[in-house]
Amino acid sequence: MYTLINDLKNHEEKTIHLRGWASNRRDSKGLYFIVLRDGTGWCQCVVNSESVSAEVFENCKNISLETSLEISGIVRKDEKQIGGFELQATDVKIISIAQEYPISKKEHGVDFLMDKRHLWLRTQRQWAIMKIRNQLIFSIHNFFQAEGFVQMDAPLFTGNACEGTSNLFETDYYGDVAYLSQSGQLYGEAMAMAMGKIYTFGPTFRAEKSKTRRHLSEFWMIEPEMAFFDIFQNMDLIEKFLRNVVNGVLENCKSELEMIGRDTSVLKNISQTFPRLTYDEAVSIIKGEKDVAGKNSIKTLEDDLKKVESRIVEINNEITDREEKIKTPGMKKGEIGFNQSKIDKLKQELSDFEEQQRNIPGWLNSAKNFEYGQDFGGSDETVLTRLFDVPVMVYNWPHAVKAFYLKRDPDDSRFARGVDILAPEGYGEIVGGGERETDTQLLIEKIKEHQLPMEAFNWYLDLRKYGSVPHAGFGLGLERLVTWICKLPHVRESIPFPRMYGRLLP
Ligand code: 4AD
Ligand code: MG
Repeated sequence: MYTLINDLKNHEEKTIHLRGWASNRRDSKGLYFIVLRDGTGWCQCVVNSESVSAEVFENCKNISLETSLEISGIVRKDEKQIGGFELQATDVKIISIAQEYPISKKEHGVDFLMDKRHLWLRTQRQWAIMKIRNQLIFSIHNFFQAEGFVQMDAPLFTGNACEGTSNLFETDYYGDVAYLSQSGQLYGEAMAMAMGKIYTFGPTFRAEKSKTRRHLSEFWMIEPEMAFFDIFQNMDLIEKFLRNVVNGVLENCKSELEMIGRDTSVLKNISQTFPRLTYDEAVSIIKGEKDVAGKNSIKTLEDDLKKVESRIVEINNEITDREEKIKTPGMKKGEIGFNQSKIDKLKQELSDFEEQQRNIPGWLNSAKNFEYGQDFGGSDETVLTRLFDVPVMVYNWPHAVKAFYLKRDPDDSRFARGVDILAPEGYGEIVGGGERETDTQLLIEKIKEHQLPMEAFNWYLDLRKYGSVPHAGFGLGLERLVTWICKLPHVRESIPFPRMYGRLLP
């Protein structure tokens, strides 16, 4: 019988058997300290030459990073240790000695780590992100099931475009062209007319030839669709939903959030009401014509740029100082190590600030020159959401820049009843949705305007012929949500094996 590391609390002072992988080994006279990980957690195992056989002790020197092992021993409570427990080993069995492990403690470039994604997933930070992703998936299902939604699956091979034709992946479907689904929404609408309230949860494909921190070619989307909902009820649901799933993470992933160093104060703001801005209001804010709680977009960016620049000078000075210090003759190994790790951290911080220094002028430029009537680009969303610490809802978009299926605003036909939810801290769009057009004539016009093949949409138009009702829905990009919740610099770390422009392996 083996015990799992996350269950050690139930085995204090008992002899148990763990199995897993060595994620660290330190040696000292007569002692080995092996940090074992088993997928549920990490536990330091102390192998004392006096507590194990001579042969077992001798073998421990062969334990390389990621060697698989079984370790038996007595569980001791120790608050100072990772996980709060330590194992006093009585036996160690090697399962398979690992060859020299490519991922070491030193800083690796992100391209290198992406090439080694199959191994990178084993590190603590990636583990924590995946646990948070898992919690979100669990909370999402719980939420919709509790709200009386039926989960249904939309096909992945489709004969029609949903989100425009510019980013479709084409496949050969028995000699015909089929597209990989960009969204399950159109099928979701059909399913909602059968079941009332449904949600889909599946992979989605977008052939985006752009290397941004927000775009994947394959991502997971959750798409609820509700009969008899208008855009305002839709917004209420989105808000309740996001609040619920973020709270699920706050409640159940405390240690994971701590592991990745996430400041949770912003996440806790999720209990506040989400601001609802019309497109017009949002544009005035982006352009700096309207302030948000005393904050002006242009002025904030200009101040931030100054702060970033002075911080860069400070960090550079500190790095130079410490590098000089290390060269002092006779400095102790420990002190050198301490300074070196400070330098490594500072360099990481520096590269973050340097990235901001490169980005802010571009954001400023796009904010100042935003053209009314356009869709928001990544930088517009960043400019807007840096002013908020809760998700923001932007609704009533110019119909010309949004999808064909959105309902035209009955009060002002320039606008469509779409809504985007933008995550704070500069993250931008995580949800897109809206009320659906029920006017068949307007839909036909839009399908033509978007140059979509009418014959592929006949079935969709049927939904308006046979008992049409007002309805609405939305799509949440799971990876975008994970990225914001974990405050990741790039969406690539939010999914086990990211697919994006320029990457298919591993
Ligand atoms: O805004 P989008 O394109 O909306 C739709 O697909 C609608 N049919 C949804 C609906 O109303 N049922 O995409 C929805 C969400 C975005 O807000 C974003 O979170 C995510 O999907 N998303 C992406 N995530 C990662 N990489 C990409 N390339 C993404 N494109 C969209
Ligand atoms: Mg969108």
